[in-house]
Amino acid sequence: MHNLNENYGVGIMGLGTVGLGTATILKRNEKILSIRKGGKIELIRVLEKQTEKARADLSALGFEPDIVTDDFGLFLATPGLDIVVELMGGTGVAKDFILRALQAKKSVVTANKDLMAIHGKELLTAAEENQVDLYFEASVAGGIPIIKVLKNDLIANNIQSIMGIVNGTTNYILTRMYDEHGNFNDVLKEAQALGYAEADPTADVGGFDAARKVAILASIAYNSRVTLDDVYVEGIEKISNHDIEAARKLGFVIKLLGIAKEENGEIEVRVHPVMIGTKHPLASVSDTFNAVFVTGDAVGETMFYGRGAGDLPTGSAVVSDICAVVEDIKHGVLATQGCTCYMQKPIRKQEDFVSKFYLRLKVKDSPGVLAAISKILGDHGVSIASLVQENGNHEDASLIMVTHKVKEGKFIKAKEELMESPVVYGIDNIIRVEVY
Ligand SMILES: NC(=O)c1ccc[n+]([C@@H]2O[C@H](COP(=O)([O-])OP(=O)(O)OC[C@H]3O[C@@H](n4cnc5c(N)ncnc54)[C@H](OP(=O)(O)O)[C@@H]3O)[C@@H](O)[C@H]2O)c1
Repeated sequence: MHNLNENYGVGIMGLGTVGLGTATILKRNEKILSIRKGGKIELIRVLEKQTEKARADLSALGFEPDIVTDDFGLFLATPGLDIVVELMGGTGVAKDFILRALQAKKSVVTANKDLMAIHGKELLTAAEENQVDLYFEASVAGGIPIIKVLKNDLIANNIQSIMGIVNGTTNYILTRMYDEHGNFNDVLKEAQALGYAEADPTADVGGFDAARKVAILASIAYNSRVTLDDVYVEGIEKISNHDIEAARKLGFVIKLLGIAKEENGEIEVRVHPVMIGTKHPLASVSDTFNAVFVTGDAVGETMFYGRGAGDLPTGSAVVSDICAVVEDIKHGVLATQGCTCYMQKPIRKQEDFVSKFYLRLKVKDSPGVLAAISKILGDHGVSIASLVQENGNHEDASLIMVTHKVKEGKFIKAKEELMESPVVYGIDNIIRVEVY
């Protein structure tokens, strides 16, 4: 066991955005961290492909440049290395290096959501087998400490639901579309120019990045392994200005939400655009900010808000995990916070989700059309809560409806029949509605 006032050696793999943010915090807050943890937490090694750049960046921060190597063997063999921090990203080399670090009895901290959402169980098992820690707070919602909250601070609760804005790029796009009436493609280009969206934005706008994060949150909240493949995913690509304006008129905003619930022993886990009432606490979460709204049976409603990405916010979560490992080393309790997935619960199928729906249809503008549409919906148990007609040209009109709650299976059948109907020219969009 380590004694008080000992040094704790940290090695970072990947000195990119988050790696540099982490190094900056370790240097900037060196004194306060050592007082809080009763020992010096020291960056003693960096593994990086771009060695020259890394050396220059580290020198500028006040580190010795010769701590940089591009050789993983040398990195792992560094004397005094206690904690390996993986910030390279990806699921190939990163997984291999993490496994090798765990096998070498090093505790690991990672921000890698792709890896944890797909191989979390394998990596957590390897950590347990090797009696070391594996922490991954920064993998969900960047600087917001939601994983520790779910694992520790809300442990008393049955978690009834989690609803999160966990992707800053899509939240930025939807905020700009709502506030400035921008269209999706223009706002996406603007987000790319500002560095908020990748050149290939598919993972963000398609909802897959949020799906990885919600898989991780659901696994922790419901003590059952939920992987990316279990998550129902829809992105924001089909959201038009027409939908945004309809939402505004109906008293809603549109957000891309990651939702996880457990009902009757089944886990429901999904990511898709949602119309939420403007009074919902998540409605005011704008721009690139993230927030996670958790409802527990004892605590009631809680919300955790902050920066979901960026060098220092994400570095904040990484350094917090480093400190958690230090605490475990000091107390000789490594490997006690391993995999929390003790059960294997079934995943609810899409047809069993229950939602209200917003539906925008292009229909024939003639008498009897409303009755025909109501009949199709009614035949499948879908009832209309509100309906607005907007006239188009002489022949067609737009119908905007919000339904009462209905099982998705029934709604899908109604939708299929509507698409076959001669009075329906097209379904422009369908968005789920959550009322607060
Ligand atoms: N950026 C954020 O705000 C944020 C937020 C939350 C979580 N994360 C997660 O944090 C991780 C890092 O993200 P990031 O944005 O910091 O990425 P990044 O800026 O691309 O940094 C990754 C760094 O690792 C280096 N690298 C990659 N493979 C390597 C290898 N085999 N050996 C040595 N160095 C290697 C890269 O070098 P090259 O450029 O030469 O490949 C790059 O310098 C990812 O898992 C990401 O999902 C990021």
